[in-house]
Amino acid sequence: MSELDAITEESLVTKGGRKWSTFPGSIGAFIAEMDFGVAPAVRQAMRELDEHDLYGYAPHALTAELRTATADFYADRFGWRIPDDHIQPASDVIAAFLGVLTHLTPAGTPIVLPTPAYMPFFDVARTTGRELIEVPMRRTETGWSLDLDGIAAALVPGATLVLCNPHNPIGKVYSEAELLALADVVEDAGARVFSDEIHAPVVYGPARHIPYAALTEATAAHTATATAASKAFNIPGLKCAQLILTAPDDRDLWTQKGQFVSGAASNPGILATTAAYTRSRDWLTEINGYLKGNRDLFTDLVADMLPKAVFLPPEGTYLAWLDLRGYGLESGLADHINSRAEVAVTEGRLCGEVGAGHIRFNFALPRPLLIEAVDRIARIL
Ligand SMILES: Cc1ncc(COP(=O)(O)O)c(C=O)c1O
Repeated sequence: MSELDAITEESLVTKGGRKWSTFPGSIGAFIAEMDFGVAPAVRQAMRELDEHDLYGYAPHALTAELRTATADFYADRFGWRIPDDHIQPASDVIAAFLGVLTHLTPAGTPIVLPTPAYMPFFDVARTTGRELIEVPMRRTETGWSLDLDGIAAALVPGATLVLCNPHNPIGKVYSEAELLALADVVEDAGARVFSDEIHAPVVYGPARHIPYAALTEATAAHTATATAASKAFNIPGLKCAQLILTAPDDRDLWTQKGQFVSGAASNPGILATTAAYTRSRDWLTEINGYLKGNRDLFTDLVADMLPKAVFLPPEGTYLAWLDLRGYGLESGLADHINSRAEVAVTEGRLCGEVGAGHIRFNFALPRPLLIEAVDRIARIL
């Protein structure tokens, strides 16, 4: 038994994080946080922040360390050596996305989004007044694939295709062949890619994360990549993401216009991210092992207890996308589950038109609570 199994609902409620305080009485399986705390080196970094009185603007040396830590992590883990000066801080991935759209793409160009998709991508489109074109993923018996014809039809010159890899909420990890095929479509259209790789450190073998911008000269030239330690190392409240600009023109534009986005990365976030990437890799290995066990357990539980659910085990992320249409409840599904089963899940409809009758379930729970959550859902459906 892992010590993570022993984390109790009571202790999580007492801590009072958003996952456990938003819906009192419910098991928190919605927002993408984990119940497993943080790595010791991250806690140490927070103590050092205080010891060194780092309450002022971020010293340049800290930002330089963040860049090197990010570059080393990407090189060691994904085999891509990014020059330090291609890496810019940001407060979070969504702020980086907003900055990329505003400063690096032609005004008024559309966003093309394979769906189901991470909910705030829709909000960003609304905030920026950009047209958002949903292109549903294709679902086969064995997996998901991009609808390349649909994407080609939606893309126009200057448009931004959002690639979420690993793909929240379906957990897909894209293969090299899939990414290269997508790159051809993007190049033919004269479009761009925003590659959100925030979940890249949480991939279960044999799947392997491949950074899109690293593939070819063309992908480097048409892509802005964003990542963060926040999901894998459980520090989203500390506010630090990394924007990787592989196109020289983007770097020039960012120097002129990106200062407010980059300046919003916080000292705690910068320090914690550096500690995560450099000194928390064993912790990540342990957590990924536990998550893989949870993924497999969840797969078995769904097969046993929710026989009408359709589910493909994710290759990455700690999120599960469950098709519950077999139970005949298309609208208000998450509300129904939350109020009747007391399990707080994410409404699938928020992930796009294709999400009706689906939920997103965060399985980064202690195992006894994971079992309890599926059992509660099964009893009310
Ligand atoms: C795919 C994806 N992108 C971005 C985010 C949000 O990241 P941030 O808090 O850095 O904006 C999340 C959070 O769950 C996510 O899953």
